Amino acid sequence: MDKKKQIVMSGIRPTGFLHLGNYFGAVRNYVRLQQEYSCYFMVADLHSLTTHPDTNELKEHVYRVLSENIACGLDPEQAVLYCQSHVPETAELYLLLNMLAYVGELEKTVTFKDKVRQHPDNINAGLLTYPVLQTADIILHRAALVPVGKDQEQHLEMARNFVKRFNHRYGEVFPEPQAFNFGEELLKVPSLDGTGKMSKSENQYATLYLGDSDEMIKKKIMRAKTDAGPSAPNTPKPDYIVNLFQLMQLVSAPATLAQFESAYIDASIRYGDMKSQLAADMIRFIAPIREKALSLQQDKDHLQRVMRQGAEKARESAARTLQLVKESMGLNYY
Ligand code: TRP
Repeated sequence: MDKKKQIVMSGIRPTGFLHLGNYFGAVRNYVRLQQEYSCYFMVADLHSLTTHPDTNELKEHVYRVLSENIACGLDPEQAVLYCQSHVPETAELYLLLNMLAYVGELEKTVTFKDKVRQHPDNINAGLLTYPVLQTADIILHRAALVPVGKDQEQHLEMARNFVKRFNHRYGEVFPEPQAFNFGEELLKVPSLDGTGKMSKSENQYATLYLGDSDEMIKKKIMRAKTDAGPSAPNTPKPDYIVNLFQLMQLVSAPATLAQFESAYIDASIRYGDMKSQLAADMIRFIAPIREKALSLQQDKDHLQRVMRQGAEKARESAARTLQLVKESMGLNYY
């Protein structure tokens, strides 16, 4: 099958800053996918209202997320880049899907239960139906492939259930959406404190953001946990040292990595040198993305053009889908 015909869709919540984990875990894949598939990438501003009702900073966040993603290589000429609230058909499909979603299954969603625990004073209905809105985003373009991380797998399973129910009741309109990660293991970027992976909620010093200054990158890397070094040749690496090597593998030249690997094996490695080298290579990697994102973010006219053009294309696709939906449901009275 012609891959151009396969439709890929994903959403990015405009909360938090993009970090290295987002880059290698998600955005880099979007960039590769946009050349081979018909891609829709959306800033999920409506979803963010379920947990962030204060909209004072929403606009800046939306501009920033868009700028950061474009700076990483998403191309508005190749993929459709749009903002969720610009496509009101999303809300219409969401309403119809709500009648196919059972309260019982929504209450069992792990992300819902987590958020109830985190925000006991704001358990709104939008939070409960979050997976229904996400399903609307995806099937609005009749997308079959959804590049997302592990944390979204349950939402996709629910999307498949809603789709099956729709198709069963009203006729085959939608493909069943599948999680998709380019046929590779999703890359996990380790955090700098030796525990887990980089994420926005954890220790700020353990995560490298694509907006970090050169000094900040250097400071974070030089603070990363190490020890006195291997005392004998061929010692197995402790986890936090494995992490440093993994980070080096992402941004340094293969020869650089090989040099430190052999210094580790013969126990001559100096972690200070390794971290200085990693910091320099990390800065070389992050600085151009940061600078591009900053300059885009200041060019509001350009960003608005990108959003307007994306919304237009997304609404064309959405209108086609809603037409099919209404025909199959018999909501076409004239
Ligand atoms: N729920 C996703 C997240 O938290 C964001 C999202 C919204 C999304 N709509 C989507 C992801 C549609 C994939 C498809 O990251």
